[in-house]
Amino acid sequence: MTRVALTVNDEKRIVETPPMKRLLDVLREDLHLTGAKEGCGEGECGACAVLMNGDLVNSCLVPILQTQGAEIITIEGIAIDKKLHPIQQCFLEQGGAQCGICTPGMILATYHLLENIPQPTLLQIQEGLNGNLCRCTGYMRIFNSVLAAAA
Ligand code: FES
Ligand code: FES
Repeated sequence: MTRVALTVNDEKRIVETPPMKRLLDVLREDLHLTGAKEGCGEGECGACAVLMNGDLVNSCLVPILQTQGAEIITIEGIAIDKKLHPIQQCFLEQGGAQCGICTPGMILATYHLLENIPQPTLLQIQEGLNGNLCRCTGYMRIFNSVLAAAA
């Protein structure tokens, strides 16, 4: 077991856990933050994406040991005053979420994209979300959600 101190959604947390336990599992099982989803478990789908020190990472690929002192933001951490974040609201209004498995990762990828490129073109949106797969929406509703959030 190892002891890891990290910050999750602006809250300091300490976990005692096997050092190679995946960040995804620590979030879901130890910290009861079940927003990040497991799709592929192999770094291919983005369903488990979270922000780590400002970078978008697939939490299924991150051993908890690597998060010592890190700042993690999950989908639970972006709401403002218990209201949906504007990106979440746009996904809701534009039909950008269907089954919802990809949605937390899509929204965090959008959050990351808009922090770097506040008004992206469609091509920049496609590139920004290219690590996130969706089996339901056909993507246009997701791209429209991002365009609406950037407007
Ligand atoms: Fe992590 Fe698919 S579950 S990338
Ligand atoms: Fe179902 Fe994207 S909404 S996988």
